[in-house]
Amino acid sequence: MTNACRPSFHGATVLSNTLIAERTWRVEIQVPELARISQPGQFFMVRLPGRTDPLLGRPFALCDVLPDQSGIAIVHMVVGRVTGLLANIQPGDPLEIWGPLGQRFPEPVAGARRVALVAGGIGQTPFLAHVRELLGSQGFGGHAPRRRVETVDFVYGARTANLHAGVDSFRDAGAIVHLATDDGSAGIHGRVTDVLSGLEKPDHVFGCGPEPMLHALAKQCVAMGIPCHLSLETPMACGLGICYSCVVKVRDDTSASGWDYRRVCIDGPTFAASDLVDFVSADRD
Ligand SMILES: Cc1cc2nc3c(=O)[nH]c(=O)nc-3n(C[C@H](O)[C@H](O)[C@H](O)COP(=O)(O)OP(=O)(O)OC[C@H]3O[C@@H](n4cnc5c(N)ncnc54)[C@H](O)[C@@H]3O)c2cc1C
Ligand code: FES
Repeated sequence: MTNACRPSFHGATVLSNTLIAERTWRVEIQVPELARISQPGQFFMVRLPGRTDPLLGRPFALCDVLPDQSGIAIVHMVVGRVTGLLANIQPGDPLEIWGPLGQRFPEPVAGARRVALVAGGIGQTPFLAHVRELLGSQGFGGHAPRRRVETVDFVYGARTANLHAGVDSFRDAGAIVHLATDDGSAGIHGRVTDVLSGLEKPDHVFGCGPEPMLHALAKQCVAMGIPCHLSLETPMACGLGICYSCVVKVRDDTSASGWDYRRVCIDGPTFAASDLVDFVSADRD
């Protein structure tokens, strides 16, 4: 699996910046070159121009491609310096973007009718474009729209209801939405893995969210015999395969140890759960 488009630098302009949940913003960015070639599962390094602090960009998933292909949308949660600055940007402000980076989501397994997308917290961001692609309402990367599956279950967990962001967008895109919260303020009072256990068995699961959630999801899917791919949000410095700050242990039968390191930024961010040795090993968590 390789990224067919070579990532490149783009000067871009903010179109809108909207608060969609507690500390969570949707930023629409005018950058038609990226809108035309980016695909669900890929990400961008976003940097605020004209500043040396913070010097490095930060990774954000492709959340949406605007219908007229004039730009893309990212959704972010304020956790630190760059996201704090992004919360204050205004329409017309410039941004610097490297992309598209990483590999797109793999296709669902052959014959799949039902796919579950399982998100924890801000891990929901790669899935809106993915719903549109799976249900064939939008094509990406220059490809015509093509329906891949009949049903997409979107399972979305958060600590509390105020952190559920953009839920109506997922419903409008055609997903069946199942909410969960840690405090019971929306959806079921419990975890995304509890929700998944109660659904009609999906043919393929994709997950994104905090690592402990992904560990639990990986083990659940392996135990239930469901193919599962996980999109990782490992902290990254370069995003381009140079610094090795983002490595993860991946099964490798050609290695004496049975695994080797892979760079999440260029080999991922999505990996088969069964290949992520630290996620599926029984002695973790
Ligand atoms: C491929 C990829 C896609 C991503 N997509 C999105 C997205 O769509 N929306 C979004 O909001 N975030 C996303 N992230 C995470 C996002 O990049 C970080 O939250 C962001 O870098 C924080 O930058 P900051 O300058 O605001 O925070 P910093 O000032 O750099 O850090 C603030 C705090 O957050 C912690 N932190 C930083 N990065 C992470 C992380 N990845 N996981 C856990 N803790 C972290 C730091 O340790 C620190 O405590 C993605 C990450 C990756 C690798
Ligand atoms: S972030 Fe530098 S190699 Fe992946």
